[in-house]
Parts: sequence; structure tokens; C-alpha cells
Amino acid sequence: MDNRQIGIFDSGIGGTSIWGEIQELLPNEDCIYLADSKNAPYGEKSEERILELSIKNTEYLLSQGCKIIVVACNTATTNAIDYLRANYTVPFIGIEPALKPAAINTKSKIVGVLATKGTLSSSLFHSTSKNHAAGITVLEQRGTGLVEMIENGNLQSDELYQLLEGYIRPMLEKGMDYLVLGCTHYPYLIPLLKKMLPENVTIIDSGQAVARQTRTVLVKNELLTNSTNVGIHQFYTNGDVKVLASILELAKPKYTVSFKDF
Ligand code: SIN
Repeated sequence: MDNRQIGIFDSGIGGTSIWGEIQELLPNEDCIYLADSKNAPYGEKSEERILELSIKNTEYLLSQGCKIIVVACNTATTNAIDYLRANYTVPFIGIEPALKPAAINTKSKIVGVLATKGTLSSSLFHSTSKNHAAGITVLEQRGTGLVEMIENGNLQSDELYQLLEGYIRPMLEKGMDYLVLGCTHYPYLIPLLKKMLPENVTIIDSGQAVARQTRTVLVKNELLTNSTNVGIHQFYTNGDVKVLASILELAKPKYTVSFKDF
């Protein structure tokens, strides 16, 4: 048993979608979340820079005594998780686009993946695609500009709708019936996506799978808390506190949000 915190980091506010699933599955665990919004988006940065930022976030979470680290960012996972696992002793949970369930269930055999340049160009993504989506047409679409707009906090603007529709329409025209969200910011686009996708198109994100994997690894390493209290959640951002707070407005557990230049 271990009552230290779960550490979570992302290039910004997107990983809060993963945090939401974790706290629902593990309600007694305390969490500390880092939103590296000052450096968002990671998706357009070099592999070296993404690694450097991932190390900085990891070091900060370890300095706070975290027992496990969830890399709640697809781009950081694909570019840095092997290094982090090899160089630190705590377990790391990563996040990859959920291609497997889409490839198993698609009827049209055409699956769309919306992700950042950093994720789509990584070798991890290509090996996942080769291993889990053989015989399926995978339409890869970069979501250039989406993370920046989500980080600005206006999730309903016409500008965001137009940009997103420009990415989705060509995949629909090619017959996609599953859309995989390969960036933790993108679940915040689901209300807009529902307006533009026909009913036969299913949206998949990885949040619940990551939460289940976090629980499995905590159990295996005897790291689950034995507290019966509702967990306490601390959020730190080096960007706009108001934007992070507005994303969390409907969150149920006790939490605090503060600015910190970690
Ligand atoms: C980004 O920072 O560009 C996106 C984060 C992600 O890939 O989940």
C-alpha cells in the first residue's frame, strides 16, 4: 500500500480528460496534475525538445513524491516514454491512439486517426498501426492548430468548428466509420464532432483504457492507496489558470488550481 500521489502531466489542459477517468476509477487516490501550457503544443516540436520537456515535468512530479507517472499526452508518450522508463524507477503509464478497438469493429474497414504531427510521425504509432490495423485503411490526419485553440479555452467558436470540419470531411468522404482521437486535448472536441459526424461514425478515445492500465500497474506494484477518503487533487499550470479552472468547473472531487512555473 502506498499513499503517495499519482502524477499526471500533459502539454496543457488536454490530459484532464485522462485525469477525469483516473479519478472516477480510483476515487481514493490523490493526484497532482501538471499542465505545461506555456510550452503547448508539443506536437509541432522536435523529438529532442519533447523529451527535454517530458524530463522536466517528470523531475517536478518526482520532487513532489509521486509514486507513478501518467504521461497524459500522446505526443510525449510516443517520443519520450521509452527514455523515461529506462531512466527512472517509478512506473510510467503512456497513452497511444486506440487503433486496436477501431480496427476490430470497423465495418467499412476505413478508420480515421486525428492526431498531432509528433504522434503520427513517430515509430511507435507506425508499429501500432502495422500490428493492430493490418488489412484496414488508416487515414492519418494531422490536427494542426487544434491544440492551440483548445488551450485558448473557447471550445465552441465558429473558427474551431471550421478548422475541425476541414480535417473531418475528407475522411468522411473516403468512408471512415471509426474516428480515433489520438491526442488527449481532442475529447474536448466531442460536442463539435457530434454535430458534424453521421450516426454511423463512432468516436474512440483512450481515456478509460489508460485509467484501467493505471489501476492494473498500481495493483501489480502494491502501490494502491489504503485511504478511504475521497482523493485530493492539485492542478498546476504554467499557463492561464482561468482556462484550466474553467475546464475543471464541473469536476466532482476536491481540487485546487494554481499557477506554478515548474
Ligand atoms: C500537443 O501538445 O501537441 C498535443 C498533446 C497530445 O498529443 O496529446
